[in-house]
Amino acid sequence: MMLVGPSGCGKTTLISVIAGILDQDSGHCEVLGEDLLNMSNQHKLNFRARNIGFVFQAFNLLPSLNAAENVSIPLIINGIKRAEAERKAISVLEQAGLGARVKALSSELSGGQQQRVAIARALVHSPRLIVCDEPTSSLDHETGHNVMTLLKDVALYKDRTLVIVTHDARIFDFADRIAEMDDGHIIKVKAAR
Ligand SMILES: Nc1ncnc2c1ncn2[C@@H]1O[C@H](COP(=O)(O)OP(=O)(O)OP(=O)(O)O)[C@@H](O)[C@H]1O
Ligand SMILES: [Mg+2]
Repeated sequence: MMLVGPSGCGKTTLISVIAGILDQDSGHCEVLGEDLLNMSNQHKLNFRARNIGFVFQAFNLLPSLNAAENVSIPLIINGIKRAEAERKAISVLEQAGLGARVKALSSELSGGQQQRVAIARALVHSPRLIVCDEPTSSLDHETGHNVMTLLKDVALYKDRTLVIVTHDARIFDFADRIAEMDDGHIIKVKAAR
């Protein structure tokens, strides 16, 4: 599912509520059958760590960690040992086309490379829900296409739910549904071709 709409209409806000990063002021939000607003903080942290992958609009990588270490974080939070976490992280980075840069600090990577590290970090722990905020904004056409193929394969073959905020018309073809948002509301949901 893709979520589109003008700047400031509330896309990041909506997916932050869905991902349990932000509490809504009103209304009801159920995620994978659970109401995050009424969960204890600890339960919510555990639920998020296990079930949700999030690609931030500004990537939010830790600058003092290298790519493999950044991608390992969700696994380490879930109790996986460091060596095993790094092995898995490197294999997802390879799928994202970054096999040659796994030891690079995030500050040494280009914007497009950082974006792909952020995407690998959102996938590495096989979450049931993956939420991406403009995941192709810093990628050239071919790299963006490769990343979308990777994300779509995860959605289709691993039965994951994917919500992608985007302005990027080049990737609309990857969507099964496109929801249009304006001024805080979803105004239309259309099935893609
Ligand atoms: N932390 C905040 N506190 C108060 N208002 C905020 C905060 N973050 C965003 N807003 C406001 O909420 C509205 C929706 O912002 P949001 O970031 O969800 O938009 P968006 O659709 O993601 O835009 P863009 O396409 O530019 O990323 C905007 O008017 C914004 O200024
Ligand atoms: Mg936004």
